[in-house]
Amino acid sequence: MRRNGETESSLSLAQTILKLLLSLAMVLSPQLLDDLKSRERKKPAFFVPLVVASVLKPKRKSRKAKPISKKVVKKKGKAAKAAKNGVKPVPKKRAKAAGARGTSAPKARAPKQKAPPTDNNPAADKATAHLDGVTVMNHYKLVQMDIEKNMDKYFILQLVKSKEGHFCVTRWGRTGTEGQSQLFGPMKYDQALKELEKKFKDKTGCALGSYSKKEGKYELLVNGAAPGEVSRAGGGCLWQYYVDDGVDGKADGWYDYYKDAAEIVESVYAEWQANNHLDVRCVQSGHFSYRVDFNAMMQTNVTHPARKQRHIRRNV
Ligand SMILES: *[C@@H]1O[C@H](CO)[C@@H](O)[C@H](O)[C@H]1NC(C)=O
Repeated sequence: MRRNGETESSLSLAQTILKLLLSLAMVLSPQLLDDLKSRERKKPAFFVPLVVASVLKPKRKSRKAKPISKKVVKKKGKAAKAAKNGVKPVPKKRAKAAGARGTSAPKARAPKQKAPPTDNNPAADKATAHLDGVTVMNHYKLVQMDIEKNMDKYFILQLVKSKEGHFCVTRWGRTGTEGQSQLFGPMKYDQALKELEKKFKDKTGCALGSYSKKEGKYELLVNGAAPGEVSRAGGGCLWQYYVDDGVDGKADGWYDYYKDAAEIVESVYAEWQANNHLDVRCVQSGHFSYRVDFNAMMQTNVTHPARKQRHIRRNV
């Protein structure tokens, strides 16, 4: 009796959540379709889940949504470019591996039930691949910031569908970095949704259908347009910084950001466009942190002892 009642109520709850979610998704993601259409072309980092081919073929069918894999995903070739970045970051320690990757993609490893919770797993990294036939059904981007403390981090939650079933995908890290990702599944849609809902609640302190910003928790972003190209039609870069202190023997004037840095700034710029209050962000670029203020159009080198500031512009 009691069991039946529970089943019924959880069913109707699932239906209610589904309805709420669908309406929410429509409200939050007017560009969802565009994003989906453009994701193969552009693969904006914030939108396409980086899933690991091998973990989509797990042997075990778990009823409880246990993570079956935790893989580190890093930006390809970040290291080399980052070294010459317009905001002059130095490559990360581990960036060598990332830079060397991609020349030969080794076969995906045998599926692992549970990868060790390490954030330095080059083998897993190499097995990382964009899967074909994956549909992103739900996408939420959360951020948590404390600008004074130089804290600015994201948490992406997705429900994706593939031939193997439904997955809950998470990715998180400091803004400006590729971060780490985790995959839960395969599961039925309802289960994946429950998993997503659980994580959403955990991170934001709110139920999926009744979000409001909570102190000390992640906040839900309105997803605007995916950030576009950072190169300008006539050559050069969309984002530039002003030199007036003769750094590196440079004459006074505007200089292009290096592409990686421009992409980072452009992505937080796109978030500002859709979320008015996010005008000041802290972004990580290689070893260095920068504060970017879109109202003042200034960047502050937070890593610099004197917190060197420069004017920046979006040179459309
Ligand atoms: C930021 O500061 C660090 C540390 O002083 C420095 O190495 C780096 O070049 C600076 N970046 C820029 C863009 O000036």
